[in-house]
Formats: sequence, structure tokens, C-alpha cells
Amino acid sequence: MKVELQGKVALVTGAARGIGKAIANKLAQNGATVIFADINHPLVQQTAGQADQQFESNCQPLQMDVRDPEQVEQGIQHILTDFGHLDILINNAGINTLAHRVNIDQFPLAEWQQILDVDLTGLFTVSQYASRPMIAQQQGRIVNIASVAGLVPLRLQCAFTAAKAGVVNLTKAMAIELGSNGVLVNGVAPGSVLTEGTRKLFYSDDAKFRQSMQSLLDHIPLGRPAETEEIAHAVLFLVAPESSYINGHVLVVDGGWTAGYLREF
Ligand SMILES: NC(=O)c1ccc[n+]([C@@H]2O[C@H](COP(=O)([O-])OP(=O)(O)OC[C@H]3O[C@@H](n4cnc5c(N)ncnc54)[C@H](O)[C@@H]3O)[C@@H](O)[C@H]2O)c1
Repeated sequence: MKVELQGKVALVTGAARGIGKAIANKLAQNGATVIFADINHPLVQQTAGQADQQFESNCQPLQMDVRDPEQVEQGIQHILTDFGHLDILINNAGINTLAHRVNIDQFPLAEWQQILDVDLTGLFTVSQYASRPMIAQQQGRIVNIASVAGLVPLRLQCAFTAAKAGVVNLTKAMAIELGSNGVLVNGVAPGSVLTEGTRKLFYSDDAKFRQSMQSLLDHIPLGRPAETEEIAHAVLFLVAPESSYINGHVLVVDGGWTAGYLREF
């Protein structure tokens, strides 16, 4: 898919690796100036540096912890000083529990708070600071990366499931608040995606969660996880100038997992 994003300035959070990296690269490949933001500064410098060499677009790294309002405000101010405008925000930064795949009665409060802080409050914070210049410009696009877990709850991941359900409804609330200012807000809800992280945890032969992942794969009509590029294409579609009447939509990209039951009765 080819989209015209020349002249647009995009900010992607959690862009050092995984889905965020694929999204940031895809926007750069289609002509946008892209700010690769991440808490992991050395890695995001490397990722943005590679993209800057690979694509004709300007790709810049930015150290940003989405939990830190001061850093978020300064980062966005920096973008506005350097480029004059901010047109696209992709709220991708997110974490999940690995240590505690347990029911709610055992789930540590501290981990609940960490996940909510990044996945929901962090997304709120970046959206708050990014939406202000977009309202002033009377144009902008925001895409929030949710999860199928925000639509169909999963066991043993209560914090992630709750945070992503929050992202789904916050996306719609933002859409109805910001739409009259020309700022369109949508979401993408990925199913299982093959990243450096999930490859190690789920998809390698000695992976810790290999067995549970096999049972998940058995219920995906396409029988495989998504590639990061397949999520990036959905985001690209939503930020395309042609997608000018799509607002408040959450696009599920899950190979059909949430479409219905694959089980026989
Ligand atoms: N991988 C999947 O199967 C899958 C499925 C559904 C949804 N998602 C969602 O997609 C998004 C990306 O997931 P991924 O699998 O690529 O994750 P990942 O762990 O590979 O990458 C996440 C990136 O976010 C950064 N990050 C973490 N905390 C941050 C913070 N406080 N501030 C800024 N950056 C921070 C990390 O440094 C990392 O570079 C997340 O929101 C995740 O919930 C992933």
C-alpha cells in the first residue's frame, strides 16, 4: 500500500522495536518525517538511525517515557520547535505482565499499577499534549494501539485486559471530543503478533508459554500470528489522507480470532 504523507510530521511512541518500529518505518517509507520516541534511548537511536539511512524521510530519535508528563510535554515542544507542526500521533508504547500470569486473586497491585501507568495513563498523557497543537492546527490524526484483549477479555492478564479495554473506549471518547476540530482518532486492535519479544516467549521451540500459544493459534482462522508489517499497514490506512471520514473506529487485525468460535459443538 502506498500513501502520500509528504510534509506530515508523525510521532510514534514505543518505536525502538516491535510493532512501533514497523509503524514508524512504514510512515517514513511513505514520506512522513517521523519522530521515533521510546524510553530505551540507545535502542531508539539505533532504530531511528537505521530508518534515516534506509528511507528518504527525516527520522529522528526522541527519549520519551510516556509515564512522565514533563518529558512528554518537552518532547512535543521540541517537535513543534523543530518542525512547526505535529500531524500524526501513534500511541503504541505498551507493556504486559510476564512474571505473573495468574488470576486476579494473586495479581500484584504494583504490577497492575505499572501496566495501567504505561498502557492507559501514558496514552492519555501523550494524547493530551499532542492534541493541543492539533486542535490549534484544526487537523490531526491519532491512532491508539489497543489489543484484542481490550475487546475479548483474556484470563491471567487482568491488568492488560483492563488497560486495553480502557484504550478502546478512550479512543471513542477522544474521537467524539476532537472530531469537530478536524482531529480524527481511531484504534488498531492486534491479535497475536510476531515480534522479537513474542518470538522468544511464545514462538520458539523452548518458549516458556509455547503450550498456551499453541492453543491460541488453534483458534486463529489464519492459523498464524501477524507480522508487525501487517499491523503497520492497518495504521497506514487509518492515517492516509483518503481515510478522511473514519473517526472513532477500532480496526481489529487478528486473522479472524475475534470473528467467532472455531470450535465444533
Ligand atoms: N505483540 C503482540 O502480540 C501484541 C498484541 C496486541 C497488542 N500489542 C500492543 O502493541 C504495542 C507494541 O507491542 P510490541 O509487542 O511491539 O511491544 P515491545 O515490547 O516489543 O515494544 C514496546 C516498546 O515500547 C517501549 N516502552 C515501554 N515502556 C515505555 C514507556 N514507559 N515509554 C515509552 N516507551 C516505552 C519499549 O522500550 C519498547 O521499545 C503495545 O501497546 C502492545 O500492547 C502487541
